[in-house]
Amino acid sequence: MTQSNVESTSRTQEFQSLNTSILVKTVWLSINLITNILICLTVFVCIVYACSSTTIDAYHLHIILCVLGYQFFMCQGIMVLSKYNSWSLFLKRIDRRRIHFILQTIAVVLVTVGSCLIIREKNEHFNTIHGSVGLCALITSLTSLANGILVTYANRLSRLNVFWIKFIHYVTGVCSIFLSAFSLCAAFRIEHFSMWTGNIGVDSILIFITCLFTVFVSINFWIFTGNIICKLCWSVLHPNL
Ligand code: HEM
Repeated sequence: MTQSNVESTSRTQEFQSLNTSILVKTVWLSINLITNILICLTVFVCIVYACSSTTIDAYHLHIILCVLGYQFFMCQGIMVLSKYNSWSLFLKRIDRRRIHFILQTIAVVLVTVGSCLIIREKNEHFNTIHGSVGLCALITSLTSLANGILVTYANRLSRLNVFWIKFIHYVTGVCSIFLSAFSLCAAFRIEHFSMWTGNIGVDSILIFITCLFTVFVSINFWIFTGNIICKLCWSVLHPNL
């Protein structure tokens, strides 16, 4: 092969890999844009519903605080860690981690206050799917925050402990957004909400949207878990390597 042929082949390969990475980046950024639009839409509808009453009592505050906490701050707190999150695209990794910690703390404060307000209002507790799943979401988010604080001191612990603390932090974080999404979907089926939307199937559309953006928010976690499983399988199948 002549010198010019070699150069042209390597230039073609370079061009192809550049094209692929542009395609991958475009797909990731599009998913991120769609996710942000769906989150804002859902949070907006819930806040309009909560504010549609003449008086804002504990029930309405509960809706505003829980939806803002879980579906806005917690989801943004997870997405900020992604390389392809639009509003944090040009931030350094360390700054993205700091913002993650701040957003998660705000989220946990909001959802704890929001849940306590409604628990104080009711006489019988956790007797609905919405309420009991909401309680599980609160427990997992508190556990995730506690683990997140432990991760900050991780360099003082052994490598194995660090791995498990981080893993539990990721798992509980993802569980809390799935559980809160489940609780929210159950809330959309509450009669008063369906009547407010006019019983024309808006609740089903909101359930679909909530499920979709929750899966999109957790995409990085599934990729990370998939990688760990692949590595574990590889080390089991090739113990001598
Ligand atoms: C992710 C968001 C939400 C979470 C995690 C959540 C969580 C909770 C929790 C923990 C309770 C207390 C249950 C008890 O003491 O038995 C509760 C009650 C309640 N929530 Fe929510 N909530 C959310 C959003 C909403 C929304 C959007 C609505 C209205 C459309 C709503 C309506 C109610 C009602 C009517 C109750 C009292 C009856 C029941 O327990 O089912 N919630 N919620």
